[in-house]
Amino acid sequence: MNTRLGEKIMDENRQGEATVIDEREGGKKLYIESYGCQMNFSDSEIVASILNKDGYSTTGNIEEADLVLLNTCSIRDKAEQTVRKRISQFNKLKADKPELKIGVLGCMAERMKANLLEEEKLVDLVAGPDAYRDLPNLVGELDGGRKAVNVILSKEETYDNIEPVRLGGNGITAFISITRGCDNMCSFCVVPFTRGRERSRNPQTIVDEALDLWNRGYKEITLLGQNVDSYLWFGGGPKKDFHKASDMAQATAVSFGKLLSMVAEAVPGMRIRFATSNPQDMHDEVLHVIANYQNICNYIHLPVQSGSSRVLKLMNRGHNREEYIALIDRIRNIIPDCAISQDMICGFPTETEEDHQETLSLMDYVKYDYGYMFYYSERPNTMAARKMEDDIPLEEKKRRLTEVIDKQREHSLLRNEENVGKEAVVLVEGVSKKSDAQLFGRTSQNNVVVFDRADYKAGDFVLVKITGCNSATLQGEAIEYAKTV
Ligand code: SAH
Ligand code: F3S
Repeated sequence: MNTRLGEKIMDENRQGEATVIDEREGGKKLYIESYGCQMNFSDSEIVASILNKDGYSTTGNIEEADLVLLNTCSIRDKAEQTVRKRISQFNKLKADKPELKIGVLGCMAERMKANLLEEEKLVDLVAGPDAYRDLPNLVGELDGGRKAVNVILSKEETYDNIEPVRLGGNGITAFISITRGCDNMCSFCVVPFTRGRERSRNPQTIVDEALDLWNRGYKEITLLGQNVDSYLWFGGGPKKDFHKASDMAQATAVSFGKLLSMVAEAVPGMRIRFATSNPQDMHDEVLHVIANYQNICNYIHLPVQSGSSRVLKLMNRGHNREEYIALIDRIRNIIPDCAISQDMICGFPTETEEDHQETLSLMDYVKYDYGYMFYYSERPNTMAARKMEDDIPLEEKKRRLTEVIDKQREHSLLRNEENVGKEAVVLVEGVSKKSDAQLFGRTSQNNVVVFDRADYKAGDFVLVKITGCNSATLQGEAIEYAKTV
């Protein structure tokens, strides 16, 4: 029932995707599967890079793997159940090939630590999100049937000098991670526990990675962080220690707005996206930067979780309904054609029918372009789990979620219909899944557009006339190569 509408960004829907690089003869083979958020997919590229240097090439064929890694998600209970099922499927593989090693990475590794080895006997290795540089050592420890664990969270690690191996991508769009961890402590969220304190990556290494991708033919990058607007470079270390930095470091600190403009100027032909923005940390500086640079996409993913100020307070979101609406109004003012998407949680503890109606009425006000909607899943050790009873019956959570999804579907259709008759620049990402004769790509607003391929190809920016739509996709007709991105 947890549904993310459309196929707009890579997310939980990209469950269990295996990725392949550089199949060298001989050598050891790594099979890596990623679950959950974009950050995990990005991290798997760092892991592949680290293990590549240790002699592992990746394979998409699990049968020939020497090492199987699952990069896991803990955000909701269902995400963890999916991974557990996958681990049990490895039973047969290991029966046929006892020397096969199985490792768990990511948030589930961090949340469960060595307990995971107790509960999932097939697992040989557990490595948390800040321990990937240690993977060659950990893998080395596995000889002779030993097990290895490293779940130490770091205050500095940003993997900034590791050049990610681009896995299974389309060669057109890529992720660049800019922050790690999160300090927001939303009461429902496990991320601050699994990914540790928030820290930002050196902006120069981000610009260099963008330039490198541009030189290799990439046309779009997404700057990734749990809370990108909170990005702050003052020489490294946890963000909460900013006040301890020297006067000089504080005076020359790089904010997210500044970082965005640095990247936009370094690669003017590249489209730039970012995710995720948190309402309480998003300031007008960033909105003006988006408006000022043509190559920064007019799209903001702005999770709100609830339309009720009472629930927002219990969620420790740091803003109320009115402040969120004021931010939406400023976005519409400063960036008139900006698409906005949401994340919502239905059935948070104590949520009443009235609170739920406030969520629906907020949606009516904003009319989001699309959204990612979930029912509440209690996560161990979070503030909500410790202080509040998970008191909304599952059936009721699901009913509310269905209403929220239905409303979003109406609004997505409405927003898509507003595009019909207009022209838009589409970055082509590949051939449409439904027909070889058509291409698909995205607009700056992140709308998926499908059109007849003619001579166009992946990586082209094409001016397209929008001729029709449904709630998930726009249909169009190519006009000519676009002059802008
Ligand atoms: N800032 C992060 C948020 C990660 S979690 C980001 O980069 O997107 C993604 C979404 O999952 C959240 O916005 C929230 O809507 C949902 N979520 C998080 N914890 C949840 C929980 N315990 N139950 C249900 N949904 C949850
Ligand atoms: Fe989670 Fe809130 Fe951070 S949703 S990732 S604690 S901004």
